[in-house]
Amino acid sequence: MVLETISRIIKVQLPAYLKKLPLPETIGGFARLTVSEWLRLLPLLGILALLGYLTIRPFLPKKKKQRDSLINLKIQKENPKVVNEIDIEDLNSANVCYCRCWRSKTFPVCDKSHIKHNELTGDNVGPLILKKKIL
Ligand code: FES
Repeated sequence: MVLETISRIIKVQLPAYLKKLPLPETIGGFARLTVSEWLRLLPLLGILALLGYLTIRPFLPKKKKQRDSLINLKIQKENPKVVNEIDIEDLNSANVCYCRCWRSKTFPVCDKSHIKHNELTGDNVGPLILKKKIL
């Protein structure tokens, strides 16, 4: 019964519907269509637009997933919170750079991975530089 109905729609009603549509034979003919003729074309144009979109959708760039909003992508993910403590007395060199982009392979110390991150994302993050005054 269902297949019979579908078959009738495809073989009888669809061709009859398409035959009644005011399809112009030239591109310029679209400009001469009346408003009521355009309204009669709308369902077909909508279906064609939907089919076109569904066809090209797999090739469109994917939206960034929610995961992209994470700041920390891989550092100490087993911990509920990443905390680093450094005693001020242990700062021996004049300048120490600490990572603020969370991409450093030597976290919490900056390894300049922020440069690549900024190039890829357009971000502008950089390290926290602690300077020690040498008296
Ligand atoms: S590597 Fe992260 S701020 Fe430099």
